[in-house]
Amino acid sequence: MDHFELRGGVLHAEDVPLTAIAAAVGTPVYVYSQATFERHARAFADGLAAIPRKHLAYAIKANPNLAVLRIMRAQGYGADVVSGGEMARALAAGMPGCDIVFSGVGKDAGEMAAALDAGVGQFNLESEEEGIELAAIAAARGIAAACALRVNPDVDAGTHGKISTGKAENKFGVPYDRAGAIYARLAGLPGLEMRGLAVHIGSQLASLDPLEAAFVKMGALLGEVRAAGLTVTHMDLGGGIGVPYRAGEVFPTPAEYGAMVARVSAAWDATLMFEPGRVIAGNAGVLLTRVIRVKPGVTQPFVIVDAAMNDLLRPAMYDAWHDFAAVSPTGHTMGANIVGPICESSDTFAMGREIDAMTAGDLAIFRTAGAYGATMASTYNSRALVPEVMVSGSRWAVVADRFAPETIFAAERVPDWLA
Ligand code: LLP
Repeated sequence: MDHFELRGGVLHAEDVPLTAIAAAVGTPVYVYSQATFERHARAFADGLAAIPRKHLAYAIKANPNLAVLRIMRAQGYGADVVSGGEMARALAAGMPGCDIVFSGVGKDAGEMAAALDAGVGQFNLESEEEGIELAAIAAARGIAAACALRVNPDVDAGTHGKISTGKAENKFGVPYDRAGAIYARLAGLPGLEMRGLAVHIGSQLASLDPLEAAFVKMGALLGEVRAAGLTVTHMDLGGGIGVPYRAGEVFPTPAEYGAMVARVSAAWDATLMFEPGRVIAGNAGVLLTRVIRVKPGVTQPFVIVDAAMNDLLRPAMYDAWHDFAAVSPTGHTMGANIVGPICESSDTFAMGREIDAMTAGDLAIFRTAGAYGATMASTYNSRALVPEVMVSGSRWAVVADRFAPETIFAAERVPDWLA
């Protein structure tokens, strides 16, 4: 459930009419609801109430805005980061280093050193080679880096191929059947404190079954590693729970997820770690846009909006569906193709969709844009970088400025020989 509802015929974010934000900030603009972030953060944690020892690390790639990180911190979450930049954000938002998990398949030496200096709580290693490199950097500092080994369980998450990470052919983690040997090798290196196993099989999962299959395999591996005399105190179960993008879709609830995890991990005797992203942020944001014009099409008209694939990449990249709704619906509907102004055909949000009737100048939203929305935005076609607004009750604030094209090309240089 979110806090983007019609009141008096006008869509509101909590107590703020979206018309007011559009008038003040312009469009396109992402609008977030603090109460929705808080509600989802609590629901996820409540779902895990039966897990005695746990660490919640919000996957900040989903939405790394500093205001969002502040909210998550206040809810007791640490951060899962995948780059030096994400780590810097988490620290800037007041997350203690010890609550940060550093994931990612390509951490470079500079990022590893910075993370050690920041006292990052856990590195999730994705290869033996990475472990050897981190061990050397940590040993040179006279410390041992706390690590988990990310394992590729070869389980099909049943999600879009581009966001599936747990099949053997994916680049993530070490092969399941070699994980025990690699763990043993890394545990013998000064500079590493091997303490756990990690898994993440993909994102936007519609069913708990593949997650359960992966966790069962991880439990068996845990037994093998311990039987070899090695220590495992932490099991990182990643993120991945999907959210409804279409009205009426039903997804596993945090409570159902928690019950499954509790059942599978009952005998593990380990601290469980979680990296939720989308399930927290997805429905906590919308992309507010204005219709530029409506143009006739062969079968249905094109509704051309001022948001484009550079602002919300998911439809172009993953064929993703985002519900589209008028800010001030008239009750009439129309069949339409919803497109942005960018000069390529992939700048299409929807084809042949039945939507609220729209004319030039009308405001509308793409729903479920709080995760993997603004964070994936670019300035392609020399468009402005899309701004972000946070709403809390009747208050609202711009939490990321619109970056004008002039600001962006001000950082470009013409060399002498071209001047
Ligand atoms: N942990 C790891 C190691 C991950 O790679 C991810 C997501 C997460 C946690 C968080 O997963 P979530 O709970 O959000 O499913 N841009 C794509 C999604 C990419 C997800 C990448 N990894 C999209 O827009 O659908």
